[in-house]
Amino acid sequence: MQDTTDRLLTRLRADGRAQLDSISFELTVAVAANIVGLVETSADKMAPRLEMVLKTAFSGATGLGRIRDKILRAWYGYLFYWVDVRPTIAKRRKAPQDDIISQCLAKGYSDKAILVECMTYVTAGMMTTREFIVMVAWHMFDNPDLRADFLRGDEDRQMAILLEILRLEPIAAVLYRRVPDGGAGERVALDIRAVHDDEASVGRCPHAVDAERAAREGQKGEFMSFGDGPHHCPGWQVALHETRVFVDALLRVPGITLARAPDMQWNDVLMTYELRDAIVTCDRTG
Ligand code: HEM
Repeated sequence: MQDTTDRLLTRLRADGRAQLDSISFELTVAVAANIVGLVETSADKMAPRLEMVLKTAFSGATGLGRIRDKILRAWYGYLFYWVDVRPTIAKRRKAPQDDIISQCLAKGYSDKAILVECMTYVTAGMMTTREFIVMVAWHMFDNPDLRADFLRGDEDRQMAILLEILRLEPIAAVLYRRVPDGGAGERVALDIRAVHDDEASVGRCPHAVDAERAAREGQKGEFMSFGDGPHHCPGWQVALHETRVFVDALLRVPGITLARAPDMQWNDVLMTYELRDAIVTCDRTG
C-alpha cells in the first residue's frame, strides 16, 4: 500500500495533475492483486485489462451495445487469463506462496475455478475501494474542517471518519438475500442507505459525519457497509487501510487541489455509484 501510494504520488507531483479515479484504481489493483497472488505481471499493465473486463461486464448496455460489450469482455477476459492468471498458476503450482491462488491450488481447484475466484476479488476488492477512495477525497476537499480533523487524527480517529463517510455513502447500496438464508425461497433486498439513514439504527443526526457515533451508540462503526453474516466482506480492513494510507498522503501533497469534481453515475447492475473524471492538481517537482 505504502510503496504503491509513494509511486503514484511521486508521478502526480512530477506531472502536476492526475485523474484521481485512475490512480485510485491502480492502487486497488496493486493491493488486491497482491492478496490474490497476481504479482508476476505489472499492476500498471493489468489495470487497463481489468478495467475493460469490468466496464463491459457491468455496463448494462442493451441491443448492439450489449453484443459489443460481450465481445470486448470475452477478449479482455481471455487476455487477463493468459497474461496474468495462467502464468501465476503455473508458478504457484511449483512454489506455493501465501496468497489466494496458492490456497485454491491446495484445495484442488481447476484453472477455471481459480479464474472465477480472481474475478470475485477483482470485482469485490478493486472496484469498491476505488470508488471509496474518490468519495473520501471529495468529502475532504469539500469540507476543510473534516480534512483538518482527519489529518490531525491518529489511526483510530482516521478510521472512525472513514467509516462515517462510508456509512453515508455506502458503495454496496443494496444487498440481496434468500429467505430462509441460502434456501430457494423469496429474494429480499436490503436497502443499506435506508438502514444508515435511520435514527433507530445509527443514532441521532444520521446525516452528519460524526466520528464519535459508533462508540456513543455502542455499535461497530462499519454498521452494514461491509455486509453481515457468512458473506461479510473479508477485505474490509484492507479497504480501510489502503484508503487511509492513500488519502492521508494525497492530502499532504504540496498544493493539492481538486481541480475537477467527479461526475457521479449510477450503475444499475451493481447498484452502486461510480465517480469518474475527478482531476487533482498540485505543485510540480523539479
Ligand atoms: C470500501 C471497499 C469495500 C466495500 C464497501 C465492500 C463491501 C462488501 C460487501 C457489502 C460485501 C457483502 C456482499 C453480500 O453480503 O452480498 C462484500 C463481500 C466481499 N468482499 Fe468486499 N468490500 C470492499 C472491499 C473489499 C476488498 C479490498 C476485498 C479484497 C481484497 C474484498 C473482498 C470481498 C469478497 C471476496 C467478498 C465476498 C465474500 C463472500 O461472499 O463470502 N472487498 N464486500
